[in-house]
Amino acid sequence: MNKEQTKLAEKILKLKKEKKALLLAHNYQRPEIQETADYVADSIGLCRRAQQEEETRLLVFSTVDFMAESAVILNPDKKVLIPDKNALCPMAAMLPAEDVKLARRKHRDAAVVLYVNTLAEAKAMCDVCCTSANAVQVVNSLDAKQVIFGPDCNLAWHIQQHTDKEIIPIPKRGFCYVHKLFSEGDILFAREKHPNAEVLAHPECNPEVQRLADFVGSTSQMYRHVKETPKKELIIATEIGLIDLLKRELPGKKYIPAYPEAVCSTMKLNTLEKIYLALKNEEPVVTVPKPIMKKARRAVEKMTEITGR
Ligand code: 13P
Ligand code: SF4
Repeated sequence: MNKEQTKLAEKILKLKKEKKALLLAHNYQRPEIQETADYVADSIGLCRRAQQEEETRLLVFSTVDFMAESAVILNPDKKVLIPDKNALCPMAAMLPAEDVKLARRKHRDAAVVLYVNTLAEAKAMCDVCCTSANAVQVVNSLDAKQVIFGPDCNLAWHIQQHTDKEIIPIPKRGFCYVHKLFSEGDILFAREKHPNAEVLAHPECNPEVQRLADFVGSTSQMYRHVKETPKKELIIATEIGLIDLLKRELPGKKYIPAYPEAVCSTMKLNTLEKIYLALKNEEPVVTVPKPIMKKARRAVEKMTEITGR
């Protein structure tokens, strides 16, 4: 951290203590935010952690919109702030609730599973949510032979490789523009340059990238894998924020970004300055209408019943 960032971090820590607030940051946040946060994790990990904090009434969720909404859904009696209200996930916006309703009408016998990377109104329309870490487990636990899944078609493809059920993606080509950036060529090139390295890819990457990877998993699964593997060189195909985290928390290994420009620009809208202002002014507050909150919560809780956590 530079001098200015250190000063801001100190101000944030002081204010957090005074207000008994908690700063939670996603694995893709800027390094100085990760260093200042109470907890850094994947989206569902952050929500669960917030639930454990009974003393806390104020949560600063340094993430994007759907993650902050999930925090509201799972912590209805806490005030949830997002440092920048323009931190929106374009993939979550690709699946309006109305499209979920239409797909349900078209495939009456199918179950509807939605990735947590969706907005609350869409979540409220599904049977159960999943994360990239537990998508296969959730889908395979269901009785239905057909499963409508959205919004990421690459994650849908990943699930299809591990199930006998028919996966129906909605929308047909929903995607994360950051993970779309990785190409087959990037992986082959990195492998040639680092022949002893292991390749880790997120299931939001294209099928050809997933096929070339040694390990495919969510950001938290990649973190765990890096901790356990004896390999000293890792080629990482996900948003570069995870590499900042790995370098800091699991040093002594070489991390090679498969594509160094894989940056989620809306994740990066959050800054220490905005976190300080959010804490000071207690805004912008994230809200979810009550009827939607209730239904969306049921879908997230169903996931927990299936996975046991
Ligand atoms: P994880 O759930 O793996 O942290 O992924 C979140 C995300 O936004 C991926 O692009
Ligand atoms: Fe959305 Fe992709 Fe950014 Fe994740 S990395 S928040 S899925 S745009």
